[in-house]
Amino acid sequence: MDYAVYVKDLWVSIGGREILKGVNLEVPRNVVFAVMGPSGSGKSTLLRTLNRILDLYEGVSVRGRVVVEGIDVYDSRTDPPAVRRLVGMVFQMPNPIPNLSIYDNVALGPKINKLVRSRKELDELVRWALEKAYLWNEVEDRLDAPASKLSGGQQQRLCIARALAMKPRVLMMDEPTSNLDAVATAEIEKLIIELKRDVTVILVTHNSFQASRVADHVAFMYDGQILEVGPTGRVFTRPAHKLTERYITGKFG
Ligand SMILES: Nc1ncnc2c1ncn2[C@@H]1O[C@H](COP(=O)(O)OP(=O)(O)OP(=O)(O)O)[C@@H](O)[C@H]1O
Ligand SMILES: [Mg+2]
Repeated sequence: MDYAVYVKDLWVSIGGREILKGVNLEVPRNVVFAVMGPSGSGKSTLLRTLNRILDLYEGVSVRGRVVVEGIDVYDSRTDPPAVRRLVGMVFQMPNPIPNLSIYDNVALGPKINKLVRSRKELDELVRWALEKAYLWNEVEDRLDAPASKLSGGQQQRLCIARALAMKPRVLMMDEPTSNLDAVATAEIEKLIIELKRDVTVILVTHNSFQASRVADHVAFMYDGQILEVGPTGRVFTRPAHKLTERYITGKFG
């Protein structure tokens, strides 16, 4: 089973209500895999299931199999924090810790998790992550400035750097550009395409144009199920499902 993420017959209910209804998913390594679909279809819930963030919610029940990089995510022997390190997450609202410095926003996770042994190693890791996130050139002379001084797009790239510094194998992004302007969005989209060299990217987006620009594969979710999945070119030119076609041509969503 050589996938970055493999999901088999996944059912999730919250407070007794079924939210995911038999999701199957196979995400190859080092691709951008977009999940699109209308509001409420379960995209964010699916991401939260993959990294066990869902454990933090009340009244959740999960059935089915989730395997990330060979780790059986819901096996009783699996340690949830280890899963969350394996699977990084970037959210819709850029959420750096505002009064913490640019440097410390990136350094905090690796420090707490003892991923480095010296200050020099930490400096190198912070620089590496900021370079990978295309932010280094803009901040190298003000690493001690609070993160709140950055623009929205820079803050989102800082959040990407923060996630990368933990050396995840999978990076999930939940609508990472929906609060950004067109220029910042274009920068993040370019970055997403570059990132797949280092990680497998799972991108949730409302925006089917964004999916068509950056993704190698797309899945279309509807009412807790994946109605269609395939290579981006095929899904956009020859959607197999009527609802997919209506969605990508902007008729609903
Ligand atoms: N903590 C929760 N408690 C109860 N219901 C929830 C919870 N989180 C999500 N849901 C429900 O699960 C369904 C799917 O929500 P989810 O947030 O996964 O959708 P989504 O596809 O990400 O939507 P959007 O595009 O608006 O972000 C919705 O009906 C939502 O109300
Ligand atoms: Mg969502």
